[in-house]
Amino acid sequence: SSAWKLDDHPKLPKGKTIALIVLDGWGESAPDEYNCIHNAPTPAMDALKHGAPDTWTLIKAHGTAVGLPSEDDMGNSEVGHNALGAGRIFAQGAKLCDLALASGKIFEGEGFKYVSESFDTHTLHLVGLLSDGGVHSRIDQLQLLIKGSAERGAKRIRVHILTDGRDVLDGSSVGFVETLEADLVKLRENGVDAQIASGGGRMYVTLDRYENDWEVVKRGWDAQVLGEAPHKFKNAVEAVKTLRKEPGANDQYLPPFVIVDDSGKAVGPIVDGDAVVTFNFRADRMVMHAKALEYEDFDKFDRVRFPKIRYAGMLQYDGELKLPNRYLVSPPEIDRTSGEYLTHNGVSTFACSETVKFGHVTFFWNGNRSGYFNEKLEEYVEIPSDSGISFNAQPKMKALEIGEKARDAILSGKFDQVRVNIPNSDMVGHTGDIAATVVACEAADLAVKMIFDAIEQVKGIYVVTADHGNAEDMVKRDKSGKPALDKEGNLQILTSHTLKPVPIAIGGPGLSKGVRFRKDLETPGLANVAATVMNLHGFVAPDDYEPTLIEVVE
Ligand code: 3PG
Ligand code: CO
Repeated sequence: SSAWKLDDHPKLPKGKTIALIVLDGWGESAPDEYNCIHNAPTPAMDALKHGAPDTWTLIKAHGTAVGLPSEDDMGNSEVGHNALGAGRIFAQGAKLCDLALASGKIFEGEGFKYVSESFDTHTLHLVGLLSDGGVHSRIDQLQLLIKGSAERGAKRIRVHILTDGRDVLDGSSVGFVETLEADLVKLRENGVDAQIASGGGRMYVTLDRYENDWEVVKRGWDAQVLGEAPHKFKNAVEAVKTLRKEPGANDQYLPPFVIVDDSGKAVGPIVDGDAVVTFNFRADRMVMHAKALEYEDFDKFDRVRFPKIRYAGMLQYDGELKLPNRYLVSPPEIDRTSGEYLTHNGVSTFACSETVKFGHVTFFWNGNRSGYFNEKLEEYVEIPSDSGISFNAQPKMKALEIGEKARDAILSGKFDQVRVNIPNSDMVGHTGDIAATVVACEAADLAVKMIFDAIEQVKGIYVVTADHGNAEDMVKRDKSGKPALDKEGNLQILTSHTLKPVPIAIGGPGLSKGVRFRKDLETPGLANVAATVMNLHGFVAPDDYEPTLIEVVE
């Protein structure tokens, strides 16, 4: 329809093949021994940085530039890919939940009313990631949710925790559990029967994504719903401290446990009539769990028991699937994304990554929607990730396979846009293994080179950027920027993302003469990329998109 029609760009032609490469977790930082990108051989990316100064620049990828509450919020893949794909900055889940909790509106909405019908006679369960990482959830929001629920009649509360160590330092889980436990003690003193009921590490229990490994979700189901786990404790702080010492365990990979009473019975299985709220606001790692909780027909694992519950998500996690059906806060309405516009204007797209990041270049890119806008014009290819391993064991991951698929798609001549996410620097960076992260960055650069070579052959254009920082800084730093030591004098390895800007570069034989990055934008960020890409496809972006990064000089 005419509302979708984009104006022709006055100077730039249509019909060029564009490779759009997102390096996940690839920020820009000063060179030192903890900068794995600097320390890896990355000739393809280095050539861009040290090449034409008009076609390489840095853009913001954290804080308010991507719709997060403050400038202290590091970037992440959800908000990063949302901004890249949507071309505008939307107040994101973290921020929307803050507002709803601060105003109390969260407790007046339909979702909360629905779950609160259980409060008189049944248990309220809260399930989610316990940390202040602010990527998937925040402990202060959980605290407000618990307090508000107790004030509104919840008499029996059970919290099912997932320890982090990925968006925050490894080992910080103990402190978060202590904080939560102290709150629950106070509630108990005031007559609310409130306890932690189960737990486990986020990468091993519940929080899988993109159907990489249903066993992860099953482990959580067994502990949370069935009250069964290989480890039983009377106290959650003790559970976390003890289980961290298991071989191979850390906060991310903590084995599942349940809390039991004096008779050895689990204190908080989820049963018929109970209310369940999942307090993560971010979608990707909640969708599988939501399907298990909500779908009548379900064959991904044997649920043994399928309790009839009143379930609400902090947000709705998938707008297309309407999953879950009930939620406490309305998600950002990310509409009119660049992908949707481009299909309406005849641009054909190929998108690809491996499983662990597949939804990033499809689901997040398209404003948290699964599926195609136009099946005839789009093809999405997922390369299965290795599962059941920590990615420092296979730091090359599927980078070359992604590069090959992109190359073939480019050479096929069937697609105007070939979009990939190359996950290595992020996924391996999250393990905190510095040597492996160097290998990861090298592998990512080789995939980039492979795509550049294909673009060279078809006389196309490449755009290469990243969604947020990670591998460029692997150590926690003090205010002066020096590595910060803990009480015992040890380095604190940074498994999380960073606050750093990310590079963006454009080039290739198809890039029109005179195209260069503008210098007049104050603080360009990820949201400026969509208009840029639309220009390179020969179109002018819609008026309300963040401005393009490029200009054409004669
Ligand atoms: C994760 O979910 O793996 C991390 O919390 C964030 O990583 P991502 O934003 O790069 O996916
Ligand atoms: Co990441």
